Amino acid sequence: MEHAGRTKVKELLKCAPGQEVTAKGWVRTRRGNKNVSFIALNDGSTINNIQIVVDMGSFDEEMLKKITTGACICVKGSLVESMGSGQAVEIQAKEITIYGEADPATYPLQKKGHTLEFLRSIAHLRPRTNTFGAVLRIRHAMAFAIHKYFNDKGFVYLHTPLVTASDCEGAGEMFQVTTLDLNNPPRKEDGSIDYSQDFFGKQTSLTVSGQLEGELGAMALGEIYTFGPTFRAENSNTPRHLAEFWMIEPEMAFYEIEDNMDLAEDFIKYLVRYALENCGDDLKFLNDMFDKELIQRLESVVNTKFVRLTYTEGIKILEESGEKFEFPVSWGVDLQSEHERYLVERHFGKPVIMTDYPKDIKAFYMKQNDDGKTVRGMDVLFPKIGEIIGGSERESSLEKLETRIKELGMKKDTLEWYLDTRRFGSAPHSGFGLGFERLLLFVTGMANIRDVIPFPRTPKNAEY
Ligand code: 4AD
Ligand code: MG
Repeated sequence: MEHAGRTKVKELLKCAPGQEVTAKGWVRTRRGNKNVSFIALNDGSTINNIQIVVDMGSFDEEMLKKITTGACICVKGSLVESMGSGQAVEIQAKEITIYGEADPATYPLQKKGHTLEFLRSIAHLRPRTNTFGAVLRIRHAMAFAIHKYFNDKGFVYLHTPLVTASDCEGAGEMFQVTTLDLNNPPRKEDGSIDYSQDFFGKQTSLTVSGQLEGELGAMALGEIYTFGPTFRAENSNTPRHLAEFWMIEPEMAFYEIEDNMDLAEDFIKYLVRYALENCGDDLKFLNDMFDKELIQRLESVVNTKFVRLTYTEGIKILEESGEKFEFPVSWGVDLQSEHERYLVERHFGKPVIMTDYPKDIKAFYMKQNDDGKTVRGMDVLFPKIGEIIGGSERESSLEKLETRIKELGMKKDTLEWYLDTRRFGSAPHSGFGLGFERLLLFVTGMANIRDVIPFPRTPKNAEY
């Protein structure tokens, strides 16, 4: 159980008293009197600290003075039953080594009570707080659970490229990737930039979604998923948007829209249940500190059948609600977060899967319905979040897809490889994208997406 010459605090807290142990970690607090000092030590393995009891008489006073909040120390001693409340065991220190001091005059994380805004400005240190420790451990647990879920179901983890020449969502929100000299780019005769001289010999960007390549995988391997960073240059400074976020995109051959909805609902419930079963201490901390209804909300989602309704039905409910929205609703408009949250939080009081959107507000690849107006898209809408998943059944007809690409004025020549899936052995298939940080907002109860990713990338911010 000892590695790198220490036992992790998480393990120590579960050990029976009466052993000699070594703990290493960062000091959260030190308090006490002339005779005895109590150090709360945390090593990131758990939200809980181990208490170190220091008999002042047995240690050099000058050394003890350096054990301040934020310092890193190594403690050897006996694990004994704790007399104080709050912990079963504590360490009676015999030997203390200071690895690194933290000057109280300049270390920014003194005691508790910093605002989340302040912590964002020191994102390099905030993992040392209880809150971010909890969030980052939950983030890890969710990433692990995602791989476990798909692996258990026989899905193949497909690595799709981050640099691409195609705009999957067609929204023109891509970050360009270039090695051209921006002060003096090569130009063609008509004055436009000559991308044939760029690194990849064409205009390239960071991907907004791995879906198009994911579809190629599904048309060969049957069921795949991607899980990686995606990038969007949308200038939305909201608590729910990042310029760099992680997305999970399963793509499945032979799934129709109902199968897709079933998978999405089962997947989210699995992840929430996994968090409840495996992240209890961290969730309890977040529940007590930030959001008294967090655990209750998570339990309720696991036990609730999601509502399924069409966009047309949803618009009707919104129109008849008598509610005054900032963005007025009528058939054809793209739903805003205020509309989604009205439906989920006030009208139904549970998650909603909305389907069959107007084709004009959705991407080119969605399967067209026979009415000529709507497509088989689906969004999963969640309380406090709004859209957490976006997906669809895919258009499998080459002809319909080509027509749509032309209607939208997209560059067909950059998509011939994608259209080959429809030329050769096309099949009904579906998929969706879960925004990883949106999931984490829900699971942790945090209110701002900048607080569920270690180093957020947002407009005008790329620190660290
Ligand atoms: O709805 P979106 O744009 O769908 C796609 O990208 C599809 N290609 C997915 C697929 O079918 N394979 O994005 C999917 C999800 C959203 O529901 C949202 O949770 C998240 O990605 N998302 C963002 N999360 C954080 N910041 C942003 N700027 C986001 N944009 C989308
Ligand atoms: Mg969407």
